Amino acid sequence: MIAKPFLKWAGGKTQLIEQIKNNLPQNTMNKPFTYVEPFVGSGAVLFWMIENFPNMKRAIINDINTDLTNSYLTIKNDVENLIDILTKWEKEYHKIAENQDKKKEYYYEKRTLFNTRKSNQTKQTALFIFLNRTCFNGLYRVNRKNEFNVPIGSYKKPQICNEPNLRAVSKVLQNVEILNGDYSKTLKYADENTFFYFDPPYKPLSETSSFNSYSKDAFDDAEQIRLKEFCELLNQKGHQWILSNSDVKGKNPKDNFFDDLYATFNILRVNARRSINANPQKRGKLTELLITNIL
Ligand SMILES: C[S@@+](CC[C@H](N)C(=O)[O-])C[C@H]1O[C@@H](n2cnc3c(N)ncnc32)[C@H](O)[C@@H]1O
Repeated sequence: MIAKPFLKWAGGKTQLIEQIKNNLPQNTMNKPFTYVEPFVGSGAVLFWMIENFPNMKRAIINDINTDLTNSYLTIKNDVENLIDILTKWEKEYHKIAENQDKKKEYYYEKRTLFNTRKSNQTKQTALFIFLNRTCFNGLYRVNRKNEFNVPIGSYKKPQICNEPNLRAVSKVLQNVEILNGDYSKTLKYADENTFFYFDPPYKPLSETSSFNSYSKDAFDDAEQIRLKEFCELLNQKGHQWILSNSDVKGKNPKDNFFDDLYATFNILRVNARRSINANPQKRGKLTELLITNIL
């Protein structure tokens, strides 16, 4: 079985993989190389890369979201106990599928327990996956106190434990180094043949579509600029990278934010589809940016 993302995550990259594939650095990847993904999220690109590029000798993933990186660590190191807990909760939740009040009680109890952050790491990960599978639209949102505050979703019998996939993910993670923190920490893992893929929180297309709260720290324009400086540094050091972001110019032709910021690099406009949006009418086609220093 091929490992695939074990979470629903905003900005899941499954749609963009084809476009990324067409722009990969051949010279780097046709010999042993290191892969670094500093904003890994649900890891759609990571799992695809591992499956398709046997020359990858080392993989390093990072995210600032500790709940997320801890769940990668649990799956890597304790997948069988995780499966036991999730299987039990799935059975319990499906049993009360017809009773909305009981489901609510069950969900909010788990959410409160998650927010105490007192469980051991495996149980905390089980709570994280349970909430991801049962909450509204698979959203992840926390308040300033880092408390997860998404309400219950309307799924009747959601799958909570995808056992074969969790095992497949565990298997591939055995060769992956998992970091937690700011993306800039990944620089020291680069060697002479390294490829970076960046999928930062996208710049919002409008004030109201601001869908940027993956963690308690916002990723604003100043952060987008800091990231560009990091890409510049990688470029100077001879590392190759691709970065995706929203195409703000597609929405407002006068908005040259990324065109100006990355003027010295290659900017491609590609078709992509967003999968998480509360309003189904807004799930339509959008252009996104792939920016790269690969010639
Ligand atoms: C667009 S998502 C990544 C989507 C992912 N590639 C996928 O396929 O699901 C952006 C990720 O960046 C993380 N993030 C935000 N600020 C960060 C920072 N300063 N350093 C590292 N990760 C950060 C968020 O927690 C989030 O998981």
